[in-house]
Amino acid sequence: MPCLKDFEEILERDVPLATLTSFRIGGAAKYLFEPRNEAELASVVAFLAESDTPWRLIGGGTNILASDEGFDGALVRLAGDFRRIEFDGLAAIAGAAAPLAALVSQSAERGLSGAECLAGIPGTVGGALVMNAGGRWGQMSGLVESVTVFEGGASNTLSAGQLRFNYRWSSLEGRVVVSARLVFERADQQEIRQRVQQFFAEKRSSQPLSQPSAGCVFKNPPGDSSAGALIDKAGLKGLSVGDAVVSPIHANYIVNTGRAASRDVRALIEQVRSRVKEAFGIELDLEIELW
Ligand code: EPU
Repeated sequence: MPCLKDFEEILERDVPLATLTSFRIGGAAKYLFEPRNEAELASVVAFLAESDTPWRLIGGGTNILASDEGFDGALVRLAGDFRRIEFDGLAAIAGAAAPLAALVSQSAERGLSGAECLAGIPGTVGGALVMNAGGRWGQMSGLVESVTVFEGGASNTLSAGQLRFNYRWSSLEGRVVVSARLVFERADQQEIRQRVQQFFAEKRSSQPLSQPSAGCVFKNPPGDSSAGALIDKAGLKGLSVGDAVVSPIHANYIVNTGRAASRDVRALIEQVRSRVKEAFGIELDLEIELW
């Protein structure tokens, strides 16, 4: 049986989740494995199973509120080959660890339209697939031809028809996505670039993009209302617990203005939830993942 020593090249110990997440919050993960290709992923996953080590996959860490206690197990973060994006005509095979921003800019450069709606969204292709990231202009699912997952010790490609996508949800939840085949439409490069810039500018003017956060905290409730608008109308902008603050720019963001602890953010989430319930009778569901 392999031992930890066999993974020295791709293993780090006691890595603070604060350094792995955009919220900049969270205690240490005991191990961080960064497999660079499928063979390494297979041996890491086999080792973790054999050694009964609890593990979970982490991508860009942009939608996670990690606990102050950290994680007494192993995190697996895809690296190396999994960051590649290879274009082929109107399609691209994108590794799960490729930054979404790279997908947006590289497709735009090639005059391929479809990813503009993802402009300004942080994180990786894998994370964006699993949670069907998107916004007002479209979502990740619109690009998907097939997704390759790693399960049972091998990779398995699922066509879009075998997958289900919904608002900030997909049937890929809980699975290890390694890559996806995405399809675009040919369009004028200048027009694509302009759309990317416009969407990004709109985001920048309405969202606190320069402060540590995990993006929107709550899903928009069913119907037409926006969680941000409800929190704003309830008068909660600027509400704080410790250094965790309901953003004065966009009320569905909680920002870490310094040394916010996970418990501060959790307490603030509960206050927001109960005040919105009191004011409008609406229960907000979390969009971010609590680890
Ligand atoms: N609004 C307020 N006050 C606020 C925030 C928003 O009154 O503090 C109003 C806005 O003026 C607008 C309406 O609420 O009339 C909707 O706001 P916005 O256009 O910002 O959209 P959203 O529904 O709040 C969604 C996504 C964002 C995405 C934007 C733009 C969710 C939970 N949020 O926000 O996604 O960037 O559309 O496409 O679906 C994320 O998922 O992390 C995220 C930031």
